[in-house]
Amino acid sequence: MKRVFVTRKLPGNSLSELSATGYQVEVWPEFLPPPRERLLGLAKGAAGLVTMLEDRVDAELMDAAGPGLKVISQYAVGLDNVDLEAARARGIVVTHTPGVLTNATADLAFALLTAAARRVVEGHDYVRRGEWRTWHPELLLGSELYGATVGVIGFGRIGQAFARRARGFDMKILYSSRHRKPRAEAELGAEYAELDDLLTRSDFVSLHTPLTPETLHLLNAERLGRMKEGSVLVNTARGKVVDTNALLEALAHGPLFAAGLDVTDPEPLPADHPLLQHPRVVVTPHIGSAGRSTREKMAEMVCADVRAVLEGRAPRYPAF
Ligand code: DGY
Repeated sequence: MKRVFVTRKLPGNSLSELSATGYQVEVWPEFLPPPRERLLGLAKGAAGLVTMLEDRVDAELMDAAGPGLKVISQYAVGLDNVDLEAARARGIVVTHTPGVLTNATADLAFALLTAAARRVVEGHDYVRRGEWRTWHPELLLGSELYGATVGVIGFGRIGQAFARRARGFDMKILYSSRHRKPRAEAELGAEYAELDDLLTRSDFVSLHTPLTPETLHLLNAERLGRMKEGSVLVNTARGKVVDTNALLEALAHGPLFAAGLDVTDPEPLPADHPLLQHPRVVVTPHIGSAGRSTREKMAEMVCADVRAVLEGRAPRYPAF
């Protein structure tokens, strides 16, 4: 019986269904990821691995699994933790979960934008601390969305879904990406801008790029320094796209007014990290795709592609 090792429990019935179709499915039962040595040991002899974004999926892991490893199915759209070259060199198929999490992630990006701009979490904390004693014209003044300009960096599926939401709020949309997207420009009324131009013109900036060598610290001190005074940054992409020290500086001394972050560097973010000391930084624990039905569909996708490869069919969502 072919063995499939899954590095976390997944929501829904897909794993039970995979077992029922004749695979030996072994799932790491704990909430925290398997320690590296355990992961290497548990991968041994697997024909399929289902991995998460916190697992380092490299040549060492592939070799620990052994020559029977045919497929790695990543339970995420992002693949920055997977050494695709090492997989290719070993003839291992890699799959992932694009598309299904687009709307869930765009929803959360927009929630963070609104929360950071209108100081929702700060207001909630203020009430909880018992400080709400009166209505006042100057209490917790925030940035307004209506008529503001939002710059979307990375205009793939999620960036465009985010822009669609921004459009519904009557925002002006700028975008930057490696290639111009005339069809999306027309549909969303978006204007293409070079990155530096976008940064200087946007009241809000939302990141939607994958993490690659080119996007590592894309927002460094210099670029953050170009942003508009009083602007708001949202990141639901990957923490390392932003230089955290530069972000702290931009929040402390300008130009940033606030930030909404679903991803951080480091990740997880320790509770005593300076980012959490800033009153206008809203942080969520990398839950962009964490809608129940989205996460169940992601499980269906990885299980279906594991089966496809192990049964000699083409996977539906190959990474290369
Ligand atoms: C992804 O899919 O890459 C997200 O970051 C996690 O769902």
